[in-house]
Amino acid sequence: MDPLYENGLGRSALEFVLASTFERQAKLPDLHAYSERELPDLIEEFPLPQYGIGSLGSVRTLWDLCNRYAANTIGPRYFDFVIGGVLPAALAADWVTATFDQNAAGRVTGDLATEVEILVMRWLKELLGLTADWHGVMVPSATYGNVAGLACARQWCGQQIAIDVVMDGARGLPPIKVVGSSFVHPSVEKALQMLGMGRKCLTRFDLTDPDTGLARMREALADSGPAIVIASAGEVNGGEFDPITRLAQVARETGAWLHVDAAFGMIAAFDPNLAENLDGIHLADSIAADGHKWLNVPYDSGFALIREKEIANRTFGMPSAPYLEDLTGASPGFASLGPDASRRARAFPVFVALLAYGTAGIRNMIKRQMKAISRLVALIDDSTDYRILIRPTLPIVTFRAEPPGILEDELDELNQAIASKVNATGHFAVGVTMVSGRKALRVALLNWGITDVIAHELFAELSATLADMDV
Ligand SMILES: Cc1ncc(COP(=O)(O)O)c(C=O)c1O
Repeated sequence: MDPLYENGLGRSALEFVLASTFERQAKLPDLHAYSERELPDLIEEFPLPQYGIGSLGSVRTLWDLCNRYAANTIGPRYFDFVIGGVLPAALAADWVTATFDQNAAGRVTGDLATEVEILVMRWLKELLGLTADWHGVMVPSATYGNVAGLACARQWCGQQIAIDVVMDGARGLPPIKVVGSSFVHPSVEKALQMLGMGRKCLTRFDLTDPDTGLARMREALADSGPAIVIASAGEVNGGEFDPITRLAQVARETGAWLHVDAAFGMIAAFDPNLAENLDGIHLADSIAADGHKWLNVPYDSGFALIREKEIANRTFGMPSAPYLEDLTGASPGFASLGPDASRRARAFPVFVALLAYGTAGIRNMIKRQMKAISRLVALIDDSTDYRILIRPTLPIVTFRAEPPGILEDELDELNQAIASKVNATGHFAVGVTMVSGRKALRVALLNWGITDVIAHELFAELSATLADMDV
């Protein structure tokens, strides 16, 4: 079907999506984590079509696939990994983003998108107590935030010893020491491997006793040449934070770059009761974060904040193509200030989410989630079958089934079996993690629709699952 001759500009497809989405949104509070889990063989079912079936038929096909087989990560019962939902205003804004399909590479392609992104990054800087001259850019994810921050760090490390990585590559660099706590997320290692620095350059220090751990870190960095300190703001098993101010001191004393991975922890800044965990973040040289987890805006909504705009421009500039002069010249666009060239107007949904609900609305969402996690923790504390392993700082908790009479070496298998059974019913999705070599359950209650009633339901399901296993 030639798109030019399709009737009505796809109106029937858009109407179908609007009506179906509206109906589905109305069911969100009751949505289970999964519908069906056995995917059909799509390669078998969908050969490359020669003649299309038109907008309505094809969109209906996608809708039906999603409705049956997609995990309901946007509902309030999906607790695996670190996944938020999608705020209603942000969902509508995402549609607008696609409708206008701006290329936010720079002013010449997307003047408005560029200005909205500058505004949104300004809001985030204000929230974090960063000065206005920090550079902020939206990237696809927190992983990309880590890549962007560490790419700038690598360029800076080179410059300290008269090596310009941008021009000469990384091969002239000595091994760069990177240090962090046991909280460092795998995406930081992924960034190091992608940047040619190698995963092995990272050394983790146990900061359970911060005085000892930080002293060891300082020692490791003494006379090491240019180095990078990683601070983790919000780790995945309980939302714990490194002592950022103290890590900043280590970085300052040893002349290292400080990178903070605040993937979802950044959102703690909205709640005065949690914001102090981020103390010292303004001392960083680069920060990675995202909005698609705890801020509940759709993917891809990552952030990279870099203290020195100049180093970002040096690292990400692409000055060699005359036809790109308007993006890369005197007033560079985001194509020259971040890792992408062409880019979606990612700031639009973040702009609308904050415009719609304000800092007070996001704070209320967080308070409700914190209440729900406290409720769950209280239920676990009162039970004889489950035990909290990591007390939550944010709405994430790691716990373990340890019913009386079960031998320690049977507990890993038991916890895995509980997660598998709960997930198989589809009512909830819970995660599995390892804590000090022991398998445990973990849940992240980051969806905007979470209530303490749902925390109750989850605990009832966990209890019933264990009771059914007859252990
Ligand atoms: C602390 C931390 N950093 C980075 C990431 C990677 O985020 P993304 O999946 O957005 O790349 C995560 C993901 O959970 C995370 O928890």
